[in-house]
Amino acid sequence: MGGAAARVMTRCDELAAFSEEPDRLTRRYGTAALRQAGESVARWMREAGLAVQRDAVGNVRGRREGPPGAKTLLLGSHLDSVRDAGRYDGPLGVLTAIEAVSALSSTTLPFALEVYAFAEEEGLRFHTSYLGSRAVTGTLDAATLAMRDAEGRSVAEVCREFAGDPANLAAARRDPDDLLGYLEVHIEQGPVLERRGLPVGVVTDIIGQGKELLTFTGIAGHAGTVPMNHRADALATAAGFVSAVERIGRETDGLVATVGRLTVEPGAANVIPGRVTATLDIRHARDEIWQGAIAAACQAAREAGALRGVQVESQTVMQTPAVRCDSRLVELLASAVATTGIEPLRMVSGAGHDAVPLSRITPVAMLFVRCAGGISHNPAESVMAADVAVAFDVLTNAVRNFPVG
Ligand code: GLV
Ligand code: MN
Ligand code: MN
Repeated sequence: MGGAAARVMTRCDELAAFSEEPDRLTRRYGTAALRQAGESVARWMREAGLAVQRDAVGNVRGRREGPPGAKTLLLGSHLDSVRDAGRYDGPLGVLTAIEAVSALSSTTLPFALEVYAFAEEEGLRFHTSYLGSRAVTGTLDAATLAMRDAEGRSVAEVCREFAGDPANLAAARRDPDDLLGYLEVHIEQGPVLERRGLPVGVVTDIIGQGKELLTFTGIAGHAGTVPMNHRADALATAAGFVSAVERIGRETDGLVATVGRLTVEPGAANVIPGRVTATLDIRHARDEIWQGAIAAACQAAREAGALRGVQVESQTVMQTPAVRCDSRLVELLASAVATTGIEPLRMVSGAGHDAVPLSRITPVAMLFVRCAGGISHNPAESVMAADVAVAFDVLTNAVRNFPVG
C-alpha cells in the first residue's frame, strides 16, 4: 500500500478529532469544529502545492493553475458530518483528491485543477442540504438563506459568522464556461461492492430526493385529566404518519422513506404533546415515484390529523431530481479502474452527494470505495487502506487522462 493511502487514512483520523461533541463525531455547518477541520485541510492543500482560499460560504478551495485561458477540473467532497458520524463520509474524497493533485505535481496538465472541501453537504443543521456546493452553483436562494436551525438561527446568520456577509455569496459561484467537470471519490455507504468483492465502483446515477418538514399542531393538556376521546395529541398523530411512511417505502420497489427526526413540545411525561415537527426524506431513482410518495405521505399525515383534530402542515425543504453522471466521465473512471486490473462495476448511488448540485453546472462522475458491512452515517463506518490506494490510483489516472475539448 502506498504512502498516499496511508496519509488519507491518518488524516481521516485526525479530522475525526474535530467535533462539536466530546464523545462522538458531529460537525455541523458554521461550527468551530468545521472551521478547525477546514484549517487542517487548507494546510495539507498548501503542502500539496495548492493556492488556498476560503469562499463566501466557507468552502476551502485549493487551486493549481493551468496554462493561460485553460479551464478548470474540480475534485472534492465535503467536511461536515451527520450526528455521531463515521470519519470517511466526505473527508475521504477531499483527502484522496489532495493526494492525487500532489502525485501529479510534476506532470504538466492542459487545465487547472482545484480541490473543494465543501462546507455543508449533510443537511444536519438546517435539514436542507448541499449549502457548500449550492453556493458554487449559485442556487442558494433567499428561501434557503432564511431557513432556521433548532436554535432559531438562520442560514444567513450562520453564514455571516462563519464565512462573511451572505450578500457576497455570488462570489462563490463558478462560471460553467470555466469548468471542465467534477470528479468525486466517496465511501459507498452500502453493501454492493463488499458483496461483489470489489474495492471500488463507478457511479452512473444518483437517485432523486425530496425532503419535507411536517408540523402537527394539537392541544397540549394534562396527561391525567383529559380523557382519551377529548385529546388532540400531536405525537399520536405523528406516530400514524411515521407508520404510513414506512408502509409507503416498503410498498414500492427501490423506494426509501425515512422520518429521521421528531421534536415533541412541550416534551414532558405528564403533558399531552401539543406540537410535533417531523422530517421526511424520500428517494427513488425515478423522480415521479419519489414525488408521488411524498404526496402520499403528506396525505396520510393529513388523514391521521383529521382523525384526532390535529392540524397538519407540510413545507417542502428541498427537491433534487435524479442525476445521470456524464457518460464520458463514467467511461474515463471505468477505464482507469480497468487499468488497475479490477472489474469496473457501474452502480447507482442511493446517497446524495456534492456531485448532485455540481451536475447543474458541469459534467460529473463519482468513484465509490468499498465500505465494511455497508455501514455508514454511523461511527462504525470503515474503509480499508488497500481500497483507498486503488481509489487514489484510479483518480490520479483519470485526472492525467482527463479529456479536454
Ligand atoms: C447524504 O449523506 C445523504 O444522502 O443524505
Ligand atoms: Mn457524503
Ligand atoms: Mn452523508
